[in-house]
Amino acid sequence: MTTTPTAPGRPTALPPRRDLTDGVVLLREPGAAPLDVDAIVHGASTPDVAHFTRVPSPYTRADAEQFLTSVRTGWSDGTAAVFAVCAADEPDALLGMVGLHDVDLTGEPGGVAEIGYWLAPAGRGRGLMTRAVRLLSTFGVDELGLTRITWFAIVGNEPSRRVAEACGYRVEGLLRRGDARRGERLDHWVGGLLAEELLR
Ligand SMILES: CC(C)(COP(=O)(O)OP(=O)(O)OC[C@H]1O[C@@H](n2cnc3c(N)ncnc32)[C@H](O)[C@@H]1OP(=O)(O)O)[C@@H](O)C(=O)NCCC(=O)NCCS
Repeated sequence: MTTTPTAPGRPTALPPRRDLTDGVVLLREPGAAPLDVDAIVHGASTPDVAHFTRVPSPYTRADAEQFLTSVRTGWSDGTAAVFAVCAADEPDALLGMVGLHDVDLTGEPGGVAEIGYWLAPAGRGRGLMTRAVRLLSTFGVDELGLTRITWFAIVGNEPSRRVAEACGYRVEGLLRRGDARRGERLDHWVGGLLAEELLR
């Protein structure tokens, strides 16, 4: 397989993992706190998380353990940068997940990725995910050199759309029966953030 060489000065791998915070939300390594597996099972089992994301349903402890392994592998092979979402003043309590998936740092003139996120109900309604998406998108643009981050959502997922748009993402179109969820193909919005559009 031939790979496109990355331009000089551009990252070719994810940097060593570190936390991201704006003082209100904290993005940290999932699996680092003792109750993370329980919190992931709880959050991923929320009906709208099961409906609107690609998590398995029903969601088991084995699914959470497998997910944590994939998070570690994704960071080390440079294909995924996934963080636990916490309130900064309660860093052990995992409230949700935000991640850059399908990271490709090799494209020219910059890399690309897809963003995904969910919050357990306890974390909602206080703007935490908007802060989390802004922090992670800033990390992607500034530290990974991404020129585009793609966002998908099932048509009608207004909370997800509001979060994305508050960070500068734009809805670009509608993919009819764009993706399958548990045996059914559903219409999807597709959107994206170009690096220069990021609302910091
Ligand atoms: C998407 C998600 C993370 C947002 O969580 P949150 O930040 O706590 O969301 P909020 O409840 O604060 O709502 C976010 C925005 O959507 C708005 N909103 C909420 N429900 C809405 C509805 N039914 N219709 C229209 N707008 C709605 C809120 O008013 C808020 O807007 P504002 O920031 O301009 O005030 C959360 O709803 C979630 O995890 N959903 C299930 C998983 C999911 O859909 N993930 C995204 C897949 S693409």
